[in-house]
Amino acid sequence: MSNLQPIPLPPTRRIVGALPKLRRVGMLSYMIHHWQTHGDISAMKLGPRQMALLSHPDYVHQVLVKNQLNYQKGTNYDKLRLLLGNGLVTSEYELWRGQRRIMQPSFTPKNTLGFADMMVKVMEKILVRWETMADTNTPLDMQAEMMRLTMSIIGEAMFSVDLSADEHQGIGRAFGHGFEHITDNTGRIFIPPPSWPTPRNRRFKRTLETLDSFIGEQIAHGRRHPNQPNLLNMLLSAQDEETGKGMDDKQLRDEVMTLFFAGFETTARTLGWAYYLLTQNPEAYAKMHAEVDEVLQGARPTVAALYQLPYTRMVADETLRLYPATGILARQAIAEDEIGGYHMPAGMIVAFSPHILHRHPDFWPNPEAFMPERFAPEKVAAMHKCAYIPFSTGPRVCIGNNFALLEIVVVLAMVAQKYEWRFPRQEVGAELHGTTRPEKPLYMTLHRR
Ligand code: HEM
Repeated sequence: MSNLQPIPLPPTRRIVGALPKLRRVGMLSYMIHHWQTHGDISAMKLGPRQMALLSHPDYVHQVLVKNQLNYQKGTNYDKLRLLLGNGLVTSEYELWRGQRRIMQPSFTPKNTLGFADMMVKVMEKILVRWETMADTNTPLDMQAEMMRLTMSIIGEAMFSVDLSADEHQGIGRAFGHGFEHITDNTGRIFIPPPSWPTPRNRRFKRTLETLDSFIGEQIAHGRRHPNQPNLLNMLLSAQDEETGKGMDDKQLRDEVMTLFFAGFETTARTLGWAYYLLTQNPEAYAKMHAEVDEVLQGARPTVAALYQLPYTRMVADETLRLYPATGILARQAIAEDEIGGYHMPAGMIVAFSPHILHRHPDFWPNPEAFMPERFAPEKVAAMHKCAYIPFSTGPRVCIGNNFALLEIVVVLAMVAQKYEWRFPRQEVGAELHGTTRPEKPLYMTLHRR
């Protein structure tokens, strides 16, 4: 294999490589520019490390499916481990395999549907809360509002607790700050080690203490009330069918933190982008409203009705194409490999950007246009399996994908029954900050329909 050509590395600054520019223009813009200039496979130098940016679905298939055992998360996920420990997102090998086996049954499509009624109830409360905003024409910060909404849903799903209630504001803020601390490290040339008592590290330590104590209390409460139908109780009683073992408290803490981390901001960002796209595409917005009106006829959505909203679901799919919340996925090669005819050396960092893959002109005609119809079933059947990966693919595909899609459809449908968001026509750029977010706050107004 060593007779193959190395992955092309465009010249950059010798020691720091692309880091200063990346910090200046942002990771997402930097990667897009790199792809447009250097094509579907090329390397970039990030300080002492090299990273290959792979932007063709065949390469995704090689790394995440065909030769997936050779590509682990490695040191790329060390910063996340500070917050999440060794939950499903960050664990590897046997620990990950066992945990995935234990947790998968809680996330089957059937079990996920068990959360639909709770989601509907949470939305009913939120729709009432928004009445005053609609009547007074008060602009709402879409991102903050969607974070509050998804925080309420994941809090109810996980612990049967309303985390948006005033008494839990501190917990909501602590989750927010924990994620912010981790994501703010991106592109920094020097990050003081966690043991250094810098003000930033001390604040993060306090945040961790708050979160650990909250999760610890919830686990103790769950053990005392095993009949409450929530995810925590499912995890408390879950056992590995091969070994008969369950999880100890430390592993539970890591999984609870992980599900929160993986599930709340991603879904909030997707909903925020969905409303941005709908306000910019009034025809699609009207079509979604018409579908919701016709199918639900003003009634509370049932599980069966949620399946009869194909256009609303296509709006969700198309939003996840244009703005996949996870803008970058990274792995590290264990042994050497061949990718696209080039030599992939052992140890190299490999990254994909779903944001780029979802705009690849060979797979997406008119890639920047919002066209939910792309996701009509016959078109989906004809797609390259790795051209669309908002939830990743292969064995480490998002375990919460059914949950997220259900939540998005419930929210889109129930808001559509009562309100319409308005936002002036304008281009809003995206930036990667842990998740893919708009480059500025989106203040939208709500109008009764
Ligand atoms: C629109 C919302 C969501 C998006 C776009 C999304 C996307 C992703 C992606 C791309 C990955 C792969 C990450 C990687 O390999 O580095 C992932 C993994 C994961 N997601 Fe999601 N996710 C979403 C919602 C959720 C929800 C609601 C939950 C849980 C309630 C969840 C739980 C997880 C977990 C536990 C993993 C790790 C799976 C494993 O490695 O076995 N996600 N997600």
